[in-house]
Amino acid sequence: MDKIRIVGGKSLEGTVRISGAKNASLPALCAGLLTDQPVRLSNVPEVRDIRTLGRLLNDLGAEVCFEVGGMVQINASHLTSVEAPYELVKTMRASVLVLGPLLAREGRARVSLPGGCAIGARPINLHLQALEKMGARIVVDHGYVEAQAGKLRGSEISFDVSTVTGTENVMMAACLAEGETVIRNAACEHEVVDLADLLAAMGARVQGAGTTTMTVQGVGSLHGARHAVVPDRIETGTYLAACAVAGGDVEIQNCHPPHLRAVIDKLREAGVRIEEGPDNLRVRAPRRVKPANVATHPHPSFPTDMQAQYMTLMTQASGTCTITENIFENRFMHVAELQRMGANIQLEGRTAIVTGPTPLSGAQVMATDLRASASLVLAGLCASGETVVDRVYHLDRGYYRIDEKLRGLGADIERLT
Ligand code: EPZ
Repeated sequence: MDKIRIVGGKSLEGTVRISGAKNASLPALCAGLLTDQPVRLSNVPEVRDIRTLGRLLNDLGAEVCFEVGGMVQINASHLTSVEAPYELVKTMRASVLVLGPLLAREGRARVSLPGGCAIGARPINLHLQALEKMGARIVVDHGYVEAQAGKLRGSEISFDVSTVTGTENVMMAACLAEGETVIRNAACEHEVVDLADLLAAMGARVQGAGTTTMTVQGVGSLHGARHAVVPDRIETGTYLAACAVAGGDVEIQNCHPPHLRAVIDKLREAGVRIEEGPDNLRVRAPRRVKPANVATHPHPSFPTDMQAQYMTLMTQASGTCTITENIFENRFMHVAELQRMGANIQLEGRTAIVTGPTPLSGAQVMATDLRASASLVLAGLCASGETVVDRVYHLDRGYYRIDEKLRGLGADIERLT
């Protein structure tokens, strides 16, 4: 199992290029199931979760071609199965995003329940309730969602909690439903908007994406399309935090600064110097990191997917701050590992109280989930001596060659295979 070895203390200099967004690419690939014509996506990151979903779509009978440079073509002209097996879904819970498209296109779907994950229980009850409201008959049996529907019908959906993949599943199902669907308390994340742009390019009628009220007018069929996936705002935020933690001066290219407004504002509050260009950012480490409280909430607030990386930065702040995780009930798995490196962090329910600056010392640490592993890599960049991060398969799920990109910025980092 791969590990990553980092020797800390090197500041970061130079340029890094951001890949396409994992969390926009996953629903985009699933949208390919909604039509019998080819959908061509560009700027798709070559990360493990994308490959896993590609295998699932292949199992359903879609032809998925990965071409060099982030091009992916999905051709779902002849689907041969409507089943998403446990073996695949357990490794990548976003596989649940085939449920809406299969129900809408084939009138049937058999999708394994994803089960819990390291960061929380993460039920999909809201996805199922919404699809039932649209006329689907759903039974959960032997760990599988068995769903059937004649033609889905448009409906008024009001989510109790803002859910990103729940919104995306309903958007895709509603595209081929009879009549109009209104989604209230819809998720507003940029990945949801990117999906709406793709669906519109395929002939769908979606309005209000990016707001909490979205309307989808069902159409008879969708056609093929080309779509460039948005840059990854969380990868961008991770490199901003990396430079702030390690020191240095870095230019981040192929990103979209407006997509991480809350992150940029919070890092500036912590003293990080950030200059914005149309599709690039220049970040210079602060002379002194200032403590700044943060609480995660749905977009446009501070994203939960940046919480762990931000915590590593706050271990170096001159003073105490609080970090409150409001989205997932178990997203502090990185705390114990950071404490092993010398960080001063107290946990009180959903709030971490971080006091700094504490010099971190290199150690062997264990990654538990995607963003926690990124926070440990960042900790290794500023720690004295050597850090070895184990179970980096978590990292590879959502970051494209992070070790090579950081080495390109001057970090002393290597992958141990
Ligand atoms: C998406 O997950 C992202 N994944 C996550 O990124 C991200 O952390 C999350 O949104 C929040 O921004 C993808 O887009 C593939 P939710 P999702 O449904 O859609 C509760 C990463 O690191 N809920 O918005 O699964 C849920 O338990 C990953 O890249 C229900 O109770 O998250 C959570 O507390 C991690 N019932 C809250 O809503 C439901 O049916 C928000 O979850 C659905 C959700």
